[in-house]
Amino acid sequence: MTASLAFAAAQPHFPPMALLTILEFPDPRLRTKAQPVTVFDAALKQFVADMFETMYAAPGVGLAATQVNVHQQVLVMDMSEDKSGAMALVNPRILEKDGEQVFQEGCLSFPGIYADVDRALHVKVAAQDVDGKEFVLDVEGPLAVCVQHEMDHLQGKVFVDYLSPLKRSMLLKKLDKKRKQSA
Ligand code: NI
Repeated sequence: MTASLAFAAAQPHFPPMALLTILEFPDPRLRTKAQPVTVFDAALKQFVADMFETMYAAPGVGLAATQVNVHQQVLVMDMSEDKSGAMALVNPRILEKDGEQVFQEGCLSFPGIYADVDRALHVKVAAQDVDGKEFVLDVEGPLAVCVQHEMDHLQGKVFVDYLSPLKRSMLLKKLDKKRKQSA
């Protein structure tokens, strides 16, 4: 997920070391359903470290493994402005969700476009850390939006799937235009 441009600009520079390539919509690989992680080894830790680097460099506030063409249930998030909120979730699953909120979302697979999406206000998620240790994340507001957005990626779902066909087609035209401008 990406935040507003003002917030993005405030992210500190991070030197590229092991940057992964982010798939961009409409790449069909973004529709792949991720498999559960069963091995918690050094390769997983390195992959998570690379995901953080890639997310901070983009810059973004959330990244799912699906977006870097690794189809394992792994996501990283950090909605802080000083890298103090880094979280990695392995094999996340929703335990509870309630309430409703509308939040303007962006996505690293849709550079430069944003749209309001309806999500649960509060979510309780069970996950594992990089060592396989279970934990529960109980969040609301923007962080709840972020975790729901990234968990969707692991199911092959993207934020524009929630929009009306008209709104979606307007937004995708804008995405095309932005791509032509930056080409
Ligand atoms: Ni995204």
